[in-house]
Amino acid sequence: MISRSTIDRVFESARVEEVIGEFVQLKKAGSNFKGLSPFTDEKSPSFMVSPVKQIWKDFSTGKGGNSVSFLMEHEHYSYPEALRWLAKKYNIEIEETEQSSEEKAQMNERESMFLVSNFAKDYFHDLMLNSNKGKAIGLSYFKERGFTDETIKKFELGYCIDEWDNFTKAALAKGYDLKYLASTGLTIVKENKQFDRFKGRVLFPIHSMSGRILGFGGRILTADKKAAKYLNSPESDIYHKSKILYGIYQAKKEIAKQDNCFLVEGYTDVISFNQSGIENVVASSGTALTSDQIRLVNRLTKNITVLFDGDAAGIRASIRGIDLILEQGMNVKVVQFPEGEDPDSFAKSNSDAELKTYLENAAQDFINFKVSLLLKDSNNDPIKKAAVIRDIVTSISKIPDGIQREVYVQECSRIMDISERVLFSELAQIVKKGVQEKSKILKRQQDPNQPPPEYFIEQEQAQMGLVKGGEVSTQKIDQLSILEKEIIRILLLFGNEEVEFIEEITNVDEDGKEMLSKRKYQNLVSAEIYLHLQEDETEFTNPLFQEIYSEMIHQLNQSEKLVVDKFVNHKNAEIINIVTSILMDEEKHKLSNWEGKSIEVKTAIEVLPKAVSDVVFNIRRILIDKLVNEFLVKGKEYSHEEKEEIMSYNSLRIRLAEKLKRVV
Ligand code: CTP
Ligand code: MN
Repeated sequence: MISRSTIDRVFESARVEEVIGEFVQLKKAGSNFKGLSPFTDEKSPSFMVSPVKQIWKDFSTGKGGNSVSFLMEHEHYSYPEALRWLAKKYNIEIEETEQSSEEKAQMNERESMFLVSNFAKDYFHDLMLNSNKGKAIGLSYFKERGFTDETIKKFELGYCIDEWDNFTKAALAKGYDLKYLASTGLTIVKENKQFDRFKGRVLFPIHSMSGRILGFGGRILTADKKAAKYLNSPESDIYHKSKILYGIYQAKKEIAKQDNCFLVEGYTDVISFNQSGIENVVASSGTALTSDQIRLVNRLTKNITVLFDGDAAGIRASIRGIDLILEQGMNVKVVQFPEGEDPDSFAKSNSDAELKTYLENAAQDFINFKVSLLLKDSNNDPIKKAAVIRDIVTSISKIPDGIQREVYVQECSRIMDISERVLFSELAQIVKKGVQEKSKILKRQQDPNQPPPEYFIEQEQAQMGLVKGGEVSTQKIDQLSILEKEIIRILLLFGNEEVEFIEEITNVDEDGKEMLSKRKYQNLVSAEIYLHLQEDETEFTNPLFQEIYSEMIHQLNQSEKLVVDKFVNHKNAEIINIVTSILMDEEKHKLSNWEGKSIEVKTAIEVLPKAVSDVVFNIRRILIDKLVNEFLVKGKEYSHEEKEEIMSYNSLRIRLAEKLKRVV
């Protein structure tokens, strides 16, 4: 682990404009820099960097953050990878925190396995390009399949000579330890003999997301029926077949840029697509898709297009795995190739343009595809049809987004000619079952204070619009969320300002007449907000804003000062994003001549007192509405006390509304 002090030094040294300057051409614009978004193909610049605040914001995609998050977005580095990159750029020595000797040994072991795998990749590649046997056998095989030199270099393809231990000998001579040759599976050790696992095969190195070599796929060159066509590296500390997608390293940039990922089955499918100019493609390497693999793609895009070979048996086997993609909230399309064709053969027998057109036209929404596929099978047999419906609705139930689910139900009702009501009730059943199972597990694992399962069921069903209760409407939640964001915005930008507030005091004189008087006082904006919200014991509905707010209050309690940097360099990427987005919106506002227009800025400080009371009162008003509503739906017969309570809420509500109008 990188030590805290190294991380701090990296953040102190890194200049966001210098870091981004290595990837994007930046031009000075006022106190900021502007450039073309590196995430889209835009023509006019909407990408902005603030050297003062040390943040960036891409207005075309809404992304933003600090130097580290830029590297994570742009280079798709993990957090430690980004830190290491910056440390190197700024010549900062990386201090690792103390590890136990066991951890150290394990880390060294993995490092050694990476090293020997990297050596193997270079060795097999060089040998194929430069030795006689390599050229005559390995290279000519790839050439025959139509792979260009460029492709062979890009994927670092190689060949292992068909002698017992040509590679093992070379590796040992270079000083690599037999232990790691064995643990990576490159060398098979039997009694006192050693031989090359991949002898006589052409090799497809398998890269991690950041480009390290994890393992190999080796293809046989002969049509030997007895030997396996592909031999892969065995599972090891560095190679987990179920956690990697072939081609992700070469494809990651293009996946993010195209905002879509094509998923194929084989190594050669990936490579042929690349040669046809489609680079956002990865392969599951012939196994059933796993959640870990989907997560790799989910970091880059929300859209997957699964490509199926022409044979129907394969499709039926694979559609199960697709529910896993839906579960992660991704959008899935499918493309089926004509009978007897796979992506590789289709790409070869069609021009680049034809392939592109085919992919566009043949792409079908997954749920629709599944419906028509299964309906064909059921042959109008009512029992089979019922099973199909259950199957489809199960898929739909995996989709986290309620609105999307509803749209699918409507769509399926149309295609399958079944009423929406039936589908919805089936959906409710499945959700209920799923949630019951979930809550059973929760109950077993967690404290007895957990709400009962019925609670989860109601929650989930309410979310799906299946039951309509007297809960806070989604519209109200949206309103609250907007107000909560406004509070965070005011705190971030003006929390440390001291301004003059006016308090209204109502006195009742001897005649019982209400007298309004005003009191002026100075206060910190942050303290003023805290005071009001604490008074109402307000909790934010949006968990992200709640987290930011809680940390702000913590800071205030510690030092009576808000430190905005703490949020810009936060460990939670979502917080970085929301905070930089708020800060940059302000910059964009200030910047005259942005996109030719100049924007009049009223001095924000002048309107601050009103802004603060507006937002606080509005939140109060909505919360009171909520309380009243909750009260009202409970039952019809109210006791005397209850009626009094409702009355007092109501008068409070009216007074607040008046106050809101009055504050100037
Ligand atoms: N596969 C494997 N082991 C096998 C067969 C296949 O690991 N014995 C994996 C490989 O990752 C392969 C994928 O499944 O790429 C798809 O298999 P297939 O379509 O048979 O291979 P292709 O990649 O199409 O290879 P080729 O075009 O050379 O036949
Ligand atoms: Mn093939």
